[in-house]
Amino acid sequence: MTKRFAIVLAAGQGTRMKSKLYKVMHPVMGKPMVGHVVDQAMAAKMDKIVTVTGVGAETVQDYLGDKSDYVLQEEQLGTAHAVEQAAPLLKHEEGTTIVICGDTPLLTMETLEALMAHHEETGAKGTVLTAHADNPFGYGRVIRATDESVAKIVEEKDASATERAVKEINTGTYCFDNKALFEAIEKVDNNNSQGEYYLPDVIEILKNNNELVSAYQLPNKEEALGVNDRVALAEAATLMKRRINEKHMRNGVTMVDPANTYIESDVVIGQDTVIEPGVYLKGQTVIGEDSMIGAHSVIVDSEIGDKVTVTSSTIESAVMGNESNIGPNSHLRADTVIKEHVHIGNFVEIKKATIGNYTKIGHLTYVGDATLGEHINLGCGTVFVNYNGKEKNHIHVGDHAFIGCNANLIAPVTIEENTFVAAGSTITDNVPADSLAIARSRQTIKEGYVNKKAQKD
Ligand code: UD1
Ligand code: CA
Repeated sequence: MTKRFAIVLAAGQGTRMKSKLYKVMHPVMGKPMVGHVVDQAMAAKMDKIVTVTGVGAETVQDYLGDKSDYVLQEEQLGTAHAVEQAAPLLKHEEGTTIVICGDTPLLTMETLEALMAHHEETGAKGTVLTAHADNPFGYGRVIRATDESVAKIVEEKDASATERAVKEINTGTYCFDNKALFEAIEKVDNNNSQGEYYLPDVIEILKNNNELVSAYQLPNKEEALGVNDRVALAEAATLMKRRINEKHMRNGVTMVDPANTYIESDVVIGQDTVIEPGVYLKGQTVIGEDSMIGAHSVIVDSEIGDKVTVTSSTIESAVMGNESNIGPNSHLRADTVIKEHVHIGNFVEIKKATIGNYTKIGHLTYVGDATLGEHINLGCGTVFVNYNGKEKNHIHVGDHAFIGCNANLIAPVTIEENTFVAAGSTITDNVPADSLAIARSRQTIKEGYVNKKAQKD
């Protein structure tokens, strides 16, 4: 089998992004652009992936980790110069090398495979992935000879008026015979309007050496999108969003309005789950089957079970067990674990707490730093007073406890199982099992008070 290598170009500063963040680290539906590119290259089964990074691009390497090897391009002298930096790792290898720009996040593994297959079948030394663009502005133009073969690629800034009228563009992805690539790259010069070493010039150099060069035109032109500024970044996000949503719908997820549903790249959703408009699912979120994610819910890095209903709520780094429900307008914060058949109603905030099976927290309640058992009822307005201004303390509530409305539980405190806490109590001491705790002043009645007061006035 022919060995296959990939070089990912990620050293450019990305001036047009006007950003402190390195260009290829800008996320598209939750994943940095370079992450999309490298993941697709990995899926296309490469023997080695080499990412070219620039000075100050530690973030790229930190993010990609051992998915890739790295070479440093100290000065950004152009795309050909960037590829040349990979020579020490690849130059002596026999095989096929694809070069991909780190700013083309929509490129798919299927396209990379089709490109390599086309390249290997034609026996070309270099194959460029091209696309038809209705608006080719900013891209290199593919100039064909009279026999339709590729003659050269001309950058926007170097193109004549006739060349600029060409609508076939260079996507920035190429396939080369590895040895031919590194031989040709030494011959690239920087005699052009930008004074840069252009990788596309390799195609012309191979051609002039009487080597066979070829082009493979993308059937799906949206994959060609190169992100150079934030307008293109938003365009890429829209296209990626549609692609992700279609994947989920084909897998059996119902989306009421996919155009207004935002699901990041790594999210997993089970069959027959319904997603309403305005939902944003982020990070490493996993959702089970037959669940209902209601309009305007935001779920980040969380695990939602089967048959769960989420109504207009925000869930972050939390777990919700099967057949539980939440909302509207509630908030689960980090390290919260909701077990099964739990009911969480409106305006409830829960942080760093475990809530046992069948427990109910209906309304206007704060639970923090706590463990709650099963079949508990927290009345409206229960507050877990977990913070004394210096430290957070723990509260435990046992199975079958019934906490009346508007109780304050002052941490640290334990309320054992089978207990009642009277409404309006402020609980500072442990409540033993099977008992009632009342901690509020007794009501006083002053009969006739209103009339007496009126006579005085
Ligand atoms: C490039 C192509 C253009 C093509 C377009 C497709 C060149 C000269 N032009 O233009 O024909 O139509 O991509 O999107 O190649 N990079 C480095 N080191 C450098 C310069 C760039 O690593 O010295 C990296 C960048 O991080 C980026 C990629 O190479 O990921 C492409 O560079 P960019 O400046 O965006 O090239 P374009 O002008 O878009
Ligand atoms: Ca670009």
